[in-house]
Amino acid sequence: MLSDLFARNRLWSASRQADEPEYFARLATRQAPEYFWIGCSDSRVPANVITGLDPGEVFVHRNVANVVHSSDMNLLSALEFAIDVLAIRQVIVCGHYGCAGVRAATDDEVHGLADHWIEPIRRLARQHAVDLAVAGSAARRRDLLAEFNVVEGVRRVAETPILRVAWARGADVAIHGLIYRIDDGLLHDLDCTIRPNPAPGSGAARPLAAT
Ligand code: CO
Repeated sequence: MLSDLFARNRLWSASRQADEPEYFARLATRQAPEYFWIGCSDSRVPANVITGLDPGEVFVHRNVANVVHSSDMNLLSALEFAIDVLAIRQVIVCGHYGCAGVRAATDDEVHGLADHWIEPIRRLARQHAVDLAVAGSAARRRDLLAEFNVVEGVRRVAETPILRVAWARGADVAIHGLIYRIDDGLLHDLDCTIRPNPAPGSGAARPLAAT
């Protein structure tokens, strides 16, 4: 059952308190994370762990294939809280290579509700059909599509009224697109950052070719 989980939790709590007796008391008073992370639900890409960040340092929203749906109240509520209440100024959309959600968007099988969820990725695949066709193997095409999905997510976050209002009032919020490689544990910047009043040409970078 859950006994192993509780045992691990007690060990973790005790070790944290041993390291810093005031640790939980400090966290209980406030959270002031520097980053808002939008990532995939995949168990191999936990935001805190892969970035080496502690509790309190990153505010997290995860869903299947890190899709940014413009009408997702769950994501939008978290985004609004992150920007307006927590005053976070670094938003990260992070995808990963080998994403099962991206793979599901490229096959002809029926996945049920997930097909509705990943429909924007299918649309991206149609939109970038030429780029994907010359990308090489099926695995490389999927990895490139995972990058396109991140870039699209960054753009969609930027187009929300939450960001437009924040930028209009002078908040210096940047939205970054990253991708994570499960087989070496490294994050890569896709160089598609969108900042307020971007200089001509910025914010429109093409994703890196998947390697
Ligand atoms: Co995934």
